[in-house]
Amino acid sequence: MNKTKIAIFASGGGSNARKILEYFQDSETAEVALVVSNKKDAGVLDIADTFSVPTHLINRQSFYETTEILEVLKAHDIGFIALAGFLWLVPAYLVKAYPGKILNIHPALLPKYGGKGMYGHHVHEAVKAAGELESGPTIHFVNEHYDEGDIVFQATCSLEPEDEPEDIARKVLSLEHAHFPRIIEAVIIKQKVRNN
Ligand code: GRF
Repeated sequence: MNKTKIAIFASGGGSNARKILEYFQDSETAEVALVVSNKKDAGVLDIADTFSVPTHLINRQSFYETTEILEVLKAHDIGFIALAGFLWLVPAYLVKAYPGKILNIHPALLPKYGGKGMYGHHVHEAVKAAGELESGPTIHFVNEHYDEGDIVFQATCSLEPEDEPEDIARKVLSLEHAHFPRIIEAVIIKQKVRNN
């Protein structure tokens, strides 16, 4: 069976992207065929280079006012999208073009601590301020609203009262690395089975 080609969308350092790239080097199911970023100096672009995976830079105007990205995805035969630290809202035309085929990872237990402005350290600071006893990543399908698509997977870690936002971030990120690649693979396998 043909491997599904994955595009990773990321805006930042790309530690999740690296884990996904590593994981799919040995997968029979899928491969990472493209990394898309909205930031020309994003660390994720260098990581893609080290894996010899092509990259594509988007700008706000073309992303929201045209559908050019669909042509790029088509040219690379992309069948699945993983958002790994991608901070822009996914436009409706893209959600429609990839129904049930876009996953996002969010560093908190949604539906808490999600939505516009809830990213990076803001999330972990809010978790700390609320005195939560646990946190963890949520992997969910993407729809037109920030952090609102159906939840596929959550993992939890316990928090200590003395944990600072940086400690919470570290605990959650290590769960992201452990689970995101395999959940992407499991969702792709499920879809392949359904389509056969
Ligand atoms: C992760 O915490 C992820 O949950 C969030 O953005 C962060 C990306 O980190 N969406 P990295 O760039 O993968 O290191």
